[in-house]
Amino acid sequence: MEVIRQIAAAKKHLREESRKGRRIAFVPTMGALHAGHRRLIETAREKADLAVLSIFVNPTQFNDPEDLQNYPRDEEADLRLAEEAGADIAFVPTVEEIYPPGFFTSVNVGRLSTKLEGASRPGHFRGVCTVVLKLLEIVRPDHLVLGLKDAQQFTILQHMVDDLCLDTEVVGVPTVREAGGLACSSRNILLTPQQRRKALCMYRALKRTHFLVKKQGILHTGELLQAIRSAVQTSGVELDYAAIVSRVTLEPLEHVVRGGTYVLIAIRIGKVRLIDNTRI
Ligand code: PAJ
Repeated sequence: MEVIRQIAAAKKHLREESRKGRRIAFVPTMGALHAGHRRLIETAREKADLAVLSIFVNPTQFNDPEDLQNYPRDEEADLRLAEEAGADIAFVPTVEEIYPPGFFTSVNVGRLSTKLEGASRPGHFRGVCTVVLKLLEIVRPDHLVLGLKDAQQFTILQHMVDDLCLDTEVVGVPTVREAGGLACSSRNILLTPQQRRKALCMYRALKRTHFLVKKQGILHTGELLQAIRSAVQTSGVELDYAAIVSRVTLEPLEHVVRGGTYVLIAIRIGKVRLIDNTRI
């Protein structure tokens, strides 16, 4: 696996590969790699000749400086995992390389970006879209591989690719979970064992929602949300939001539309914020 840190070198190398007819799949990450990222890299391997990974903790998508400062970083371990998973190239730029002095352009993604995660983290998706657009232009991948764990991010980036006619196919990878059901997340290592157990309430609430819809035929979202809220709150964690929305518009639904619905949950445990979702 080759590690490239400069934009110019990454472009030169990748353009040469493209000219040779090699297809590229790209996995953008912020590092602290785990089994979820590994699955994305493996998917990239299956999809294309060249699997490119980026590791960049993007400051513009953090609205809380403490969250940015506490974000776990371990480049050596990341590069080891990436290589094992089959990445061919790791692009690992510095903040100055991506945002040199005088950088001021940003991608405004409008309505989809101000609700749910965007409501709790103003400006977050502007930061995400700006950096992903820049990375897409550096890498010019045939496939952009993203996790469905970040459902709103997935929907917004798919929109950006469509709206701006970007020449890449967006591939969604189902959420990878730890043995007990907790969705893998870079932030999980910030949890104590007790907090980790509490965090499982999200997975339990999502499973219960599936049960209520599929086995009991409850489609009314008010009733389902009530069940989620009480399941989360009895576990003693702070619920940031629970929402049942259309997978296309991310607008709240009054009734579950089978095959077209996201159930989304965000919680806070101490200083750590976690999200999870399921599709129904
Ligand atoms: P990061 O949180 O590092 O996630 C990188 C990719 O891994 C995203 O596409 C995310 O959805 C996916 N991912 C995370 N946990 C996963 C899991 N348990 N199962 C499957 N996929 C998972 O998302 C970002 O970074 C950033 O916003 C980024 C897109 C890199 C822009 O900075």
